[in-house]
Amino acid sequence: MSTISIATASEVIDLLRDDLAAIEREFAQQSQSPVAVITDIAQYLIAGGGKRIRPLLLLLSAKALGSTSHSRIRLGAVVEMLHTATLVHDDIIDEAETRRGRPSSNTTWGNSKCVLAGDWLYMQSFQTALEERNFRVLDLLISLTQQMVEGELLQIEKLGRLINEEEYFDLIYRKTACLFKVSMQLGAAVTHADPEVENALGEYGRNLGLAFQIIDDVLDLTASEEVLGKPVASDLREGKATLAVIHALERGTGADREAIRTVLADRSFARISHPEILEILQRHGSIDYAVDTACAYAEAARLSLADLPATDAKRALLWVPGFVTSRDR
Ligand code: IPE
Ligand code: IPE
Ligand code: MG
Ligand code: MG
Repeated sequence: MSTISIATASEVIDLLRDDLAAIEREFAQQSQSPVAVITDIAQYLIAGGGKRIRPLLLLLSAKALGSTSHSRIRLGAVVEMLHTATLVHDDIIDEAETRRGRPSSNTTWGNSKCVLAGDWLYMQSFQTALEERNFRVLDLLISLTQQMVEGELLQIEKLGRLINEEEYFDLIYRKTACLFKVSMQLGAAVTHADPEVENALGEYGRNLGLAFQIIDDVLDLTASEEVLGKPVASDLREGKATLAVIHALERGTGADREAIRTVLADRSFARISHPEILEILQRHGSIDYAVDTACAYAEAARLSLADLPATDAKRALLWVPGFVTSRDR
């Protein structure tokens, strides 16, 4: 087997700097509405920053297949706009007060305006995608949006309940991994790549997206709000059982299970504190289990690239899984 070195973070930044800057300009330009409040909300969200991991994946996928067309910039903006729309709605649903280290948009403008601004962003992302005149692109984006909405809805239906791993993986696939997968597939779609190539890149995105959400859920349990830039311990307070919690529920003593059940049912730490839950998770190795599972998906993502020709873009794609599993925000 031929070996290829993994890129460094600075090599990845150098490789993508100009394209990512072009995507920022495209996103800003696509966020202009005649109704000022929509533009204000969109500009506020853009200025909040964010990792821009979905456009980064789309760019690397297109680059790995040799694409240099403007489509990669346009669709890079499309996936970030879609992501932004889901965040606006997610923060309303989760009643989150912070995002990207600042007050969330719902805290600043209120729920009603933000529901509508989110809808507008969804439609603007589709209108931008329409400029490609490529049905494959629209097909991918429409199924994706339905999966994401279904994921958020299923999640609401399972709130406060003890779900199993299978239900958890179905949820995180829909709400997060599907967009990672489609970002990779869109990079292939604009190069009119063979279906096997598009599938392999999609598999990379799916595996990476699962790893990404598992780590997001671990950080919700273990990180501080200052570093994370969004509320912590919020999943339990919202009645959401995530992978480490599911692991502890399956292995804990009767008292441990009861403690977790209490927090999920109360949707508060009034009776059982956050440190008490963390102690239970630590005692059963549940946090390590979740991180190890994320690392296994990250490795599966790398393996999905086996047949891709050796390029700088491939070296960068090999770097992303390690970034995802070792990040602190
Ligand atoms: C947050 O996504 C929503 C999840 C899928 C967990 P990111 O962690 O990519 O958010 P930003 O864009 O970097 O703020
Ligand atoms: C987010 O899930 C999934 C989306 C599609 C927005 P979370 O609710 O865990 O995301 P954060 O933690 O608020 O970013
Ligand atoms: Mg949320
Ligand atoms: Mg989260």
